[in-house]
Amino acid sequence: MTIKNLNFNSSNRVLVTGGAGFIGSNLCETLLENGNKVICLDNFATGKRENITPLLENQNFTLIEGDIRDLDTCHKACNSVDYVLHQAALGSVPRSINDPITSNDVNVSGFLNMLVAARDAKVKRFVFAASSSTYGDSTNMPKVEDIIGNPLSPYAITKYVNELYATIFSTTYGLETIGLRYFNVFGRKQDPNGAYAAVIPKFVMQLMNHESPVVNGDGSFSRDFTYIDNVIQMNIRAIASINKEAINTVYNVAYGERTDLKQLITLLKEYLGEFDPKIKDVETIYGPQRTGDVPHSLASINKAKTLLGYSPEYSIESGLKEAVNWYWKNLK
Ligand SMILES: NC(=O)c1ccc[n+]([C@@H]2O[C@H](COP(=O)([O-])OP(=O)(O)OC[C@H]3O[C@@H](n4cnc5c(N)ncnc54)[C@H](O)[C@@H]3O)[C@@H](O)[C@H]2O)c1
Repeated sequence: MTIKNLNFNSSNRVLVTGGAGFIGSNLCETLLENGNKVICLDNFATGKRENITPLLENQNFTLIEGDIRDLDTCHKACNSVDYVLHQAALGSVPRSINDPITSNDVNVSGFLNMLVAARDAKVKRFVFAASSSTYGDSTNMPKVEDIIGNPLSPYAITKYVNELYATIFSTTYGLETIGLRYFNVFGRKQDPNGAYAAVIPKFVMQLMNHESPVVNGDGSFSRDFTYIDNVIQMNIRAIASINKEAINTVYNVAYGERTDLKQLITLLKEYLGEFDPKIKDVETIYGPQRTGDVPHSLASINKAKTLLGYSPEYSIESGLKEAVNWYWKNLK
């Protein structure tokens, strides 16, 4: 992806934590393509070596294999860095319900280590992956940044605590921070396997194998599914912005439309059906609803548009076509 018209000086040193993961590896790739030096810190808890294998040949890319729960490692990674894009965390609501202690250690204590290291290294800005889960049980629609509800899972608590700590580091130590509340991101390199896989890659893999996708609930739950390139754009805008009003705050990162799971499966069958018409006949199975899932999620992206000039390039349809093409070429 090319960084267009974003007023971004491309000779920065950028630390991407979680850089071997889905979002992090896409960020590393774009930053390198645009001439930056990239340091990737990852412990491969959920990230994949193959996500960064092609990047290892690039002399502007440095891999630090390490854990954000270790403060010394965070200090080492932040050394001489201009910007931090902090993506490392244990994602997934069910994972945090099964093991809240590890989620808290990584997502809260690890986050705090990274803030301390970024502050000590005097980085120019600390941009971090927040989450739409922070809206919790709020029924307000679309979600606007300053109205949140009560968290519905340990994961949601960890992501909200990140925002609170970032604010304190801005006000107390003058560290510039921006939190990006991602809404159900999808696209190339997202892991389709494992118990905690996200719904789009999981359904794509099942459909490609002519297996029935299993929906939690009746398929009426909806999400503001967001294509990876829109997320990359927001990260770059967040580090490039020179608007002082745009920093030390949080933004929704989404497309601004919601799609329910039934509609999602219809679209996936249509796009995958172009490669293999039999996929159109695969039946869907509806199962029980999952604990901690919010029924509907839709973002207002007005704040990102106004303060950061965000203009999402990919709709759910155009993003899904790209994602499906990638999965068919790479994983079929
Ligand atoms: N994908 C989404 O829809 C979504 C939505 C909201 C928020 N987020 C957040 O975005 C970020 C990236 O998510 P993703 O979807 O790319 O997930 P991912 O699991 O693919 O990436 C997370 C990366 O962090 C690394 N990591 C985990 N624990 C670590 C540790 N202790 N030390 C160092 N590295 C560690 C993993 O190995 C992995 O490479 C996470 O903070 C996640 O909570 C993602």
